[in-house]
Amino acid sequence: MAEVSYELDRIGVDYPTPAGLVTGLHEVSIAVPGSGITVFAGPSGSGKSTLLRVLGLFERPARGTMRFQGTETGTLTHRGRRALRRDRLGLVFQNPPENLLDYLTVADNLHAAAQSARRRCEPGDILGRLGLGGTGSWPIAALSGGQQQRLAFGCALARGSSVILADEPTSQLDEASADLVLDTLRSLAEQGFAVLVASHDERLIALGTRVAWLRDGKLEAFG
Ligand SMILES: Nc1ncnc2c1ncn2[C@@H]1O[C@H](COP(=O)(O)OP(=O)(O)O)[C@@H](O)[C@H]1O
Ligand SMILES: [Mg+2]
Repeated sequence: MAEVSYELDRIGVDYPTPAGLVTGLHEVSIAVPGSGITVFAGPSGSGKSTLLRVLGLFERPARGTMRFQGTETGTLTHRGRRALRRDRLGLVFQNPPENLLDYLTVADNLHAAAQSARRRCEPGDILGRLGLGGTGSWPIAALSGGQQQRLAFGCALARGSSVILADEPTSQLDEASADLVLDTLRSLAEQGFAVLVASHDERLIALGTRVAWLRDGKLEAFG
């Protein structure tokens, strides 16, 4: 596993609004580790989601440069960005239903995720690793919120992602369900994945190998 997954140099993002440009990120420079759990923490509106969208190659920054696993991303075509996303990145959003296809069973969600990256997967193996053994034939609605989030991480595994990005993965969950997600993040990091999480959940922040603090779109501290 590479020591560094991302190198950002003075990344800036602006949002046009009726009141003028709003700066989402301001001159963010950071080297993100290629393993362990890196948490992007900070209050609401500090730029966590914006940064995660830049890292996930969904948002093209207005300024600065970003290398991902050695590739300079600024000059990539739309197709090149999509290929990197498909082959290397797994994204887990805040709301469990956004991450899964509710008309498919648990196992078929994993198959669909694998297929989207032109791969095959063994659902039983992945479900076992996530403590979801025996649920393969269940409909998604039969899983709790925490189990659905775990399955969303399973979809990232099925796609063969080496870097897993998650935006506030515990914020819509009760404490017991959030515990399931914390366990999953810990176990993914132990398995060698780089786990990058935006959160203001104190328990999740405590789990971070490194914590980057954002405020008003600026990186305040990284340690
Ligand atoms: N689509 C958007 N349009 C306009 N402003 C946005 C948009 N997305 C985010 N912002 C602004 O960018 C800043 C950072 O937002 P965001 O990245 O969502 O922060 P966080 O995830 O930490 O709550 C905020 O000032 C927010 O209002
Ligand atoms: Mg956010």
